[in-house]
Amino acid sequence: MKTTRCTVQLQKAREYQDQALKTMKMAKKPSFHVAAPVGWINDPNGFSLYQGEVHLFYQYHPYEYLWGPMHWGHVKTSDFIRWEQLPVALAPDQAYDHFGCFSGSAFEWKDKHVLAYTGVDKKIDEDGNEIVLQTQCLAVGDGYDYEKMDVNPVITPETLPKGSSFSDFRDPKAWVEGDSIYLVVGSRAEDTSGQIALYRSKNLYDWEYVTIVDQCNNQYGKMWECPDFFELDGKQVLLVSPQEMKGGGLDIHNGNATLCIVGSYDTKKHDFLRETVSSIDNGLDFYAPQTMLTKDHRRIMIGWMESWDNHLYTKEFGWSGMMSIPRELHIVNGKMIQNPIREIEKYYRDSVCHSIGRFEGSLELSGVKGRSSDMTAEVIGGEYSEFSIHVACGKEEYTRLTYDRRKHIFEIDRENSGFTKDVIGLRRSKVSDYQGKIKIRAILDLYSVEVFINDGEQALSMLVFTPEEAERIEFYTDGYVQMEVEMHQIQI
Ligand code: FRU
Repeated sequence: MKTTRCTVQLQKAREYQDQALKTMKMAKKPSFHVAAPVGWINDPNGFSLYQGEVHLFYQYHPYEYLWGPMHWGHVKTSDFIRWEQLPVALAPDQAYDHFGCFSGSAFEWKDKHVLAYTGVDKKIDEDGNEIVLQTQCLAVGDGYDYEKMDVNPVITPETLPKGSSFSDFRDPKAWVEGDSIYLVVGSRAEDTSGQIALYRSKNLYDWEYVTIVDQCNNQYGKMWECPDFFELDGKQVLLVSPQEMKGGGLDIHNGNATLCIVGSYDTKKHDFLRETVSSIDNGLDFYAPQTMLTKDHRRIMIGWMESWDNHLYTKEFGWSGMMSIPRELHIVNGKMIQNPIREIEKYYRDSVCHSIGRFEGSLELSGVKGRSSDMTAEVIGGEYSEFSIHVACGKEEYTRLTYDRRKHIFEIDRENSGFTKDVIGLRRSKVSDYQGKIKIRAILDLYSVEVFINDGEQALSMLVFTPEEAERIEFYTDGYVQMEVEMHQIQI
């Protein structure tokens, strides 16, 4: 199964990363979120268990703070909180992937770690038009070095139903089931909107097209990127990241969004039947999530904490892009809920709890502050119509999290969070009505705020660029509120 040893392109990227980490002046990085070592990162890739360790790869362009020819960067962890940097795993160095090694996944097969990715090739046709060709490719490794297979590409778009696109065929998510490897991959159907194709193999080399498991029919955006497909709590879940969504009220926002489709699945006939469709994260920065199964059978999701429509980093940073906190998933009443990975609790320091019988107007609490922290504020009673928490407050800056009790709407607002660019600052989400009670958990890690409402019923993630010293937290209400607050600093 030999082919490309460490090619010139891969060697160059590895050396560049090594040097940059030793010598380049870069902006401080978050402490427990995976961030670009140097240059640009986007989607999480290859989130998987291999020989007992958790590996995560990502779309990576080390040489610039902007997207470019895609490599795969690599980190690993034993607890999802502390990550170890590894050398670059893949570089675009073959005829079939010279324009980029796009997103994909990883799985363990016969003691090897296999990466499934999309090779992107560009050609000029007879009329001088540029043609993009996307195919599915494999690389086999030991958790450190990976070699592309000499039979690549292993799946080409001719195998798709008639009329499917050859240019939009990407992001394979593979898993092992019994003696077979299954793989779902995004593509565009004849009607130009997304479809998710299922393939199967018994040996890595020969891949058979099985079926289309679900199809957009121009209802939810256009191309469906980065699919994931798994069983969870007795239901089947399909995650997709649609492009060009028109949006639908408060539940599904426009642009590049993420969707969770819950349904049932006949594993013999490969029939997937949709039951519910909802947004995965209603915040401003979350895309292309991918999941893995832990040794103790927890389904964990991680996403790219950014949006294609809002590039926020500046060149001076030296690095650009980070992942969300890994999140534990469950299905409750047919809906996906998500909560931060429990291992974060190992890193709790300086914890404080406050039980507030009644407060009106505004309030600050001793020990409740921080930019590397995990706070839960639970309103357990009161008479009010709006309750807000301002996090990352400095002299002028703050990031506002507001619950509108009458409308049952939760709003995040980063308009005063240190941006000098004209970026989208507000997003709102419907939340369940518990008669004025609400539980708000906010995880902060330098440049990010991730909010989990009512034990994970909703998640809203966003980047903020407030200076690090802005660490105060303030509570506001227009009536009176009875609440409990639990605050932990995170120390890595
Ligand atoms: C999603 C995506 C994928 C693609 C990758 C390229 O964010 O567009 O579809 O493989 O990014 O970097």
